[in-house]
Amino acid sequence: MAGCENPGSMDCFLLQGGRRLQGQVMASGSKNASLPILAASLLLDGAWQLQKVPRLRDVATMQDLLSALGVQSQWRAEAMEIQPQSSEPTEAPYDIVRRMRASICVLGPLLAKRGSARVSLPGGCVFGARPVDLHVRGLQALGAKIEQEGGDLVATVPPSGLRGVAIDLRSAYGSTVLGTINVMMAACLARGETVIGSAAREPEVVEVASFLRACGAKIEGAGEDRIHIEGGHALRPVSWALSADRMETGTLLLAGAITRGQVRVLGCRPQDLQSLQSMLLAVGCRLQVGTDWLEVDARDGSWSAVDVETGVYPGFPTDLQAQWMAFATQMEGRSRIVEKIYPERFMHVPELQRLGARLNRQGNQVQVQGPARLTAAPVLASDLRASACLVLAGLVARGTTCVRRVYHLDRGYVALEEKLSALGAKVVRQRDAQAP
Ligand code: EPU
Repeated sequence: MAGCENPGSMDCFLLQGGRRLQGQVMASGSKNASLPILAASLLLDGAWQLQKVPRLRDVATMQDLLSALGVQSQWRAEAMEIQPQSSEPTEAPYDIVRRMRASICVLGPLLAKRGSARVSLPGGCVFGARPVDLHVRGLQALGAKIEQEGGDLVATVPPSGLRGVAIDLRSAYGSTVLGTINVMMAACLARGETVIGSAAREPEVVEVASFLRACGAKIEGAGEDRIHIEGGHALRPVSWALSADRMETGTLLLAGAITRGQVRVLGCRPQDLQSLQSMLLAVGCRLQVGTDWLEVDARDGSWSAVDVETGVYPGFPTDLQAQWMAFATQMEGRSRIVEKIYPERFMHVPELQRLGARLNRQGNQVQVQGPARLTAAPVLASDLRASACLVLAGLVARGTTCVRRVYHLDRGYVALEEKLSALGAKVVRQRDAQAP
C-alpha cells in the first residue's frame, strides 16, 4: 500500500499531461468517517470489525494512537479488527497527535469512558490556526474539568460523572465537524439528555451517529442542526462497513472533467455530493447519476467560469476547493473562489501559478482567469487537498509535471496514481531524487 509503511517517504509523482481520462473506478472508504469511528472504539468493550477501511497514512496514525491507548487493531484484507486490551491508558502523546489533527477526537471518548484524558493540543496546520475551543467548551458543558498544561489538554470527570446539557457549538466559520462528533460521543455515556445546537450536518457526522446507534446509543437528529442524545445506554460493539469517501469521489470526477474525459466513480453516494454536481452542471459538464455511482462527461470540453463559495454541508466542501481551482483554470472567463471555512487555505495558489495559472488572491478569495495554458514545472505539495489540486493540474499541463512531497496525498487518497493510471493517465510514483 502506498505510503503507510514509510510515513517519512519522500516520493514524488511524475505526470505527463494531456491525456483524457476514460473509464470507471471504485471509490475507497471514507477517511473522515473512519477516523472518529475508530476513536469511538474507546467507548466500547469487546472486539469488533470495521469494513471498507481505506489504507491511508491517517488511518495508520489513528491505529498508533489507539495502540498507545490500549486498543489493538489488525488488518484483515480491507477490514480492520479492533480489540480493546487495556482501559488504563488515558494519555494521547504529542508525538502521535502532532501527525494528525483528527487525534483530538479521542478526547471525548476517553473522558466519558475512562474518566480522565491527557491529549496534546494538535497545534496549527498549514492552512490556519484550527482551534479546538469548541471541543473543549462542549465537553466542559457536560461537566468535564479541562485545563491546559505543558501543551496538553488535561481533562477529568467529576465523581458524579458527565451529565447531559444543551449546548451550542457554533464557531465564527459555521459548525464544527469533529467538535460535534467529540461531544456527541461523550454525551452517549453522560447521564440524561444532551442537545447539541448548531451541530455540523456533514455526512460523516451522520455516519458516526448511525454507527453509535447500531451500538445501542440513543441519538436523534444527526444530519440536522440540532442533535439529541439520551445518554447512559449501554454500548456494545457491532461490525460496521464504511461508506465511500466523498472527497476522493469528487477529486476523481474533477480529474475526469479537467481532462475533458468521461469518468464513472462506482460505490459512491451521489446524495453526499449534490453541491459538486450542481457546480459541474453549471459550468457545462454532463452528469449521469445512479444509486451508487456518478459519472461526469466532459468530452465536449468547453466550460463557462462560475463563482464558487465553500460552506458547511450541504454547501460546496472546502475539501474540494483546491481541486476545483485547478479545474477553474481551464474554464472560459473569470471566476471567483471564496473560502468561507478556512480563510487561509490557499497554499496551492503559488504552486498553480508556477504551472501558469492566472490567479489573484485577496484575503479569502481568489480570482481565476481562464482558460490558462498550463505548462509542466516541479511543484511542491503542502497539504492533502493542495496535493490533489496539483495532481489535477499536472494531468493537463504540457510536459512532465513533478509533484513533490506526495506523502501529504497518502494521508487521504488510496493509491491515487493507480486509480488515475487505470483511467488512462500517465502518472508514476518514484523516489524524489531531490528530496533532502
Ligand atoms: N473551529 C473553531 N473552533 C473549534 C473547531 C473548529 O473555531 O473548536 C473552526 C475551524 O477553525 C474552521 C471551522 O470551525 O474554521 C470548521 O472546522 P471543523 O471543526 O469543522 O473542522 P474539523 O472537524 O477539524 C473536518 C475534516 C476536515 C474538513 C473540515 C471541514 C476530518 C478528520 N477533518 O475537520 O478535512 O476540512 O471538517 O469540513 O474530518 C481534509 O480531509 O482534508 C480535511 C482537512
